[in-house]
Amino acid sequence: MSAKAKVRVATKSEAETAIVLVASKSGKKEKELVAKGLSKSLIEKIKGAFGEDYSATSGQQLIFRDANVDGYKNLVFIGLGDAAKVNTETLRRAAGTSARDLQLKTKSIVLFVENLTGYSRDKAEAIQAVVEGLIMGSYKFDELKSKKNDKKSEATEYTLLSKNKNEESLAKKAAAKGQVIAEAVNFARRLGDLPGNFLTPTRLGQEAAKAAKGTRLKVTVWDPARIKKENMGNLLGVANGSEEPCRFIAMEYKGGGASKPICYVGKGLTFDSGGISIKPSAGMEEMKYDMCGGAGVIAAMLAIAQLKLKVNAIAFVPTTENMPGGRANKPGDVTTARNGKTTEVNNTDAEGRLILSDALVYASEHKPAFIVDAATLTGAMSIALGDIHTGFFSNNPKLTKVAQDAAEKAGEWIWEMPLTKEHSEDMKGTYADLSNISSNKGAGSAKGAAFLQEFVEEGIPWAHFDIAGTAWNTGHRVSYNPKKGASGIIVRTFVKLAELWK
Ligand code: BES
Ligand code: ZN
Ligand code: ZN
Repeated sequence: MSAKAKVRVATKSEAETAIVLVASKSGKKEKELVAKGLSKSLIEKIKGAFGEDYSATSGQQLIFRDANVDGYKNLVFIGLGDAAKVNTETLRRAAGTSARDLQLKTKSIVLFVENLTGYSRDKAEAIQAVVEGLIMGSYKFDELKSKKNDKKSEATEYTLLSKNKNEESLAKKAAAKGQVIAEAVNFARRLGDLPGNFLTPTRLGQEAAKAAKGTRLKVTVWDPARIKKENMGNLLGVANGSEEPCRFIAMEYKGGGASKPICYVGKGLTFDSGGISIKPSAGMEEMKYDMCGGAGVIAAMLAIAQLKLKVNAIAFVPTTENMPGGRANKPGDVTTARNGKTTEVNNTDAEGRLILSDALVYASEHKPAFIVDAATLTGAMSIALGDIHTGFFSNNPKLTKVAQDAAEKAGEWIWEMPLTKEHSEDMKGTYADLSNISSNKGAGSAKGAAFLQEFVEEGIPWAHFDIAGTAWNTGHRVSYNPKKGASGIIVRTFVKLAELWK
C-alpha cells in the first residue's frame, strides 16, 4: 500500500491547501453551521462560490488554485448537500471524496475542527467519521505493480486544526479511534485484493499473526494434521481438492474480565474455483475475494484489541482453497462435521457453508454471548440486495436490534432477511443428515443460512452476514471505498457491535 494518509490534530498548520465542507440551504442555522470556526475571508469565499443560499450539493467539489486565503495557497470546498440531512456518514463520504477524488495535487491539507463538529450533535463522532473517510479514501492497492505511481506514493498529510484546547483533546481522541478503525478496514481490503497465489491459507494465517504483534491479541493457527485431530471433516473435505494446505485461524482478546466472550467467525476461501462443480470462467477471478468475511473478522479483532475495548472476544477463520484436484470432494460425497452431523456434498461450489460449519461448532463450544459470522456465501444475495445492503439472518431479536444499531452508527447498510423452519426443511439430506444444497428452488441465501444454523448450538444468539454483494466493487456508490477492489465491509459494524453489546 503506498498512498497513505497521515492525520494529526494541531493548533497550528502550515498546510498548502484548506478543505472546507459546505452544507446547503439558505437558513440562518445552516449558515452558522458552515461558518463555525471559519475566518471572515473564508466565509466570503464560500458566499462567492455558492451564492447567498450556499447551494453546495453532495459530492460537489470546487477548487480554487492559488486562492491564497489566510495563508493557504489552495482552497477546496466539498459539498455536503442539505444541511438538515447531514449525518456522520455524510461527513465520512465528504472526507472520502477529499481523499479519493480530489482533482488537485497537494501534499498537505488542513480541515477546521469546528467546521466539522458543527454538523453533528456528537463532536467526537463527527471527527471520527471524517478521519475514517480520509484514511479509507486514501487506500490504494499497488504493491503488485512493478512501477509505483509516484504522484500517489507519498502520504498526504492532513491536519485537523483546532483553535480551542477543549476541542483539541476531544479531536485527538476521536481521530485516534477513527484511525484505528479505518486502518483495520484498509488491512481487510488489502487481504481481499491480494490474489490467490499470494494470499494462500498459510499466508492468511501469517498475516493475522503478524498484524496482531504488539497487541494483546493471541493468534493460533492450526495445520491440517491438527484440524484432522479436531474432527473438522467438512473443512478437510473442501481442502482435499487443493495442493495448498488449509488452516484454521483462532484469535483471542481478553479485555472484559470474567464476562462471556463475544464471537466472530469468517469465511476464508482464498480462492473458490467451485471445485468439481466448477464455476464458469467469466468472472472467476473475482473468487479471490471469497475470503473477505475472514479478513473482516481478523481486521475487526485487530481494531477491538487496538482500541482496548472492555470485552472478551474470540474469532475463528477456517481458510482453504476450493479446487478440483484428484482428491477433491465429488458431488454426492458425504463428509462429517465436528459435531458428528453428516452432509451430502451435492454441489462442491457450496463450500463456504461446509468450512463454516466446523468453525460454528467449535465456536459454540466456547459458550459465547453471541456468534456473528461474515461470509461471501451466496451469489443469490447479490441478486436480492445488490451491492447496497449486506443481508443478514439471525435467530435472536436482541442481536438483530444491536446489529442494526451498530451498522447504522458505523455507516454500513445491513438488511434483515427471513430464516424459518421451512428453509431448514429444504436442507435435509437423502443419504446423510443434511445436503449442502436445497431440495427446492429459490431463497438460496436463506437456505445457506439455514444450513449454517444446524451447527450453532441452540440458545446461542447468532447472526449470519452474507456479504457476497457488498465485499468488493462498491466504490461507485460509496466515495471512501475503492472504485474497484475489496470494500472492507463489516469491519466497522463488527467493531461497533463489540462496543454496543451489553
Ligand atoms: N463464493 C460463492 C458465492 C459467491 C458467488 C459470492 C458470487 C460472490 C459472488 C459460494 O461459494 C458459491 O459458489 N455459492 C453457490 C451456492 C450454490 C451452489 C447453492 C452460489 O451462490 O451459486
Ligand atoms: Zn463456491
Ligand atoms: Zn465460496
